[in-house]
Amino acid sequence: MAIELADIRFHYPSRAEHTVLNVPSWSLKTGTQAFVYGPSGGGKSTLLGLLSGLLSPNSGQVRVLGQCLDTLSNRQRDQFRAANIGYVFQQFNLMPYLNAIDNVLLATQFSQSNNRGGKENEVKVLFNALNIPENEWQIPCRDLSVGQQQRVAIARALINKPKLLIADEPTSSLDQANSDAFMKLLMPMAADNNMTLLFVSHDHSLSSYFTSVESLGDFNQVEGINNAS
Ligand SMILES: Nc1ncnc2c1ncn2[C@@H]1O[C@H](COP(=O)(O)OP(=O)(O)OP(=O)(O)O)[C@@H](O)[C@H]1O
Ligand SMILES: [Mg+2]
Repeated sequence: MAIELADIRFHYPSRAEHTVLNVPSWSLKTGTQAFVYGPSGGGKSTLLGLLSGLLSPNSGQVRVLGQCLDTLSNRQRDQFRAANIGYVFQQFNLMPYLNAIDNVLLATQFSQSNNRGGKENEVKVLFNALNIPENEWQIPCRDLSVGQQQRVAIARALINKPKLLIADEPTSSLDQANSDAFMKLLMPMAADNNMTLLFVSHDHSLSSYFTSVESLGDFNQVEGINNAS
């Protein structure tokens, strides 16, 4: 199994009365290409935070690629994420003052090989496949368009060929052509590398690419918004 959740409950510390996630059980088989949709505020980004170990549940177990995240120290969790998970954040989380190439290379610093030149070539191959024009590669990411920043964030998530790719509204800022380019790059790459995909979005239009399509409300048992979807 790529993902196994058991008896998960989560609320943010500042809002103890507001249970965001109550997931008795949910799993994804290795190699699944899964799309989970739900309304804004329904807990999609929170779910991805738990799966990546950036958030910890108040109770329950999160197991990713066979590893129980709550038995790891913070440092071990960071290493586990760097080695195994590609994460396209909803807000991208790029370093604004670094250029596109350096933002992606930053994600390779935990990998075994120290071959910067080789890695840089791989970055350029990804940038070309994602239609990021060469004259945008060397300027600070804060000066790129939002859609270009999103494609840099996608390249950063893919550069280590992660076993699990999780993506939070990964095409929200892309036009149709770039959204299609991304999906056409991703799907064969996922299949070739036995990569498990989990995309979350409120927008159903990407769902046709995926082998599994679920509503978050189908496995998140909180009252209110999710159950309405
Ligand atoms: N840092 C935070 N502190 C407190 N509450 C939060 C925080 N982040 C999110 N929430 C709350 O948790 C709930 C779920 O938010 P979340 O961001 O997971 O939703 P989402 O499904 O990703 O929404 P969207 O589609 O708008 O991105 C919301 O009620 C939100 O107000
Ligand atoms: Mg979100």
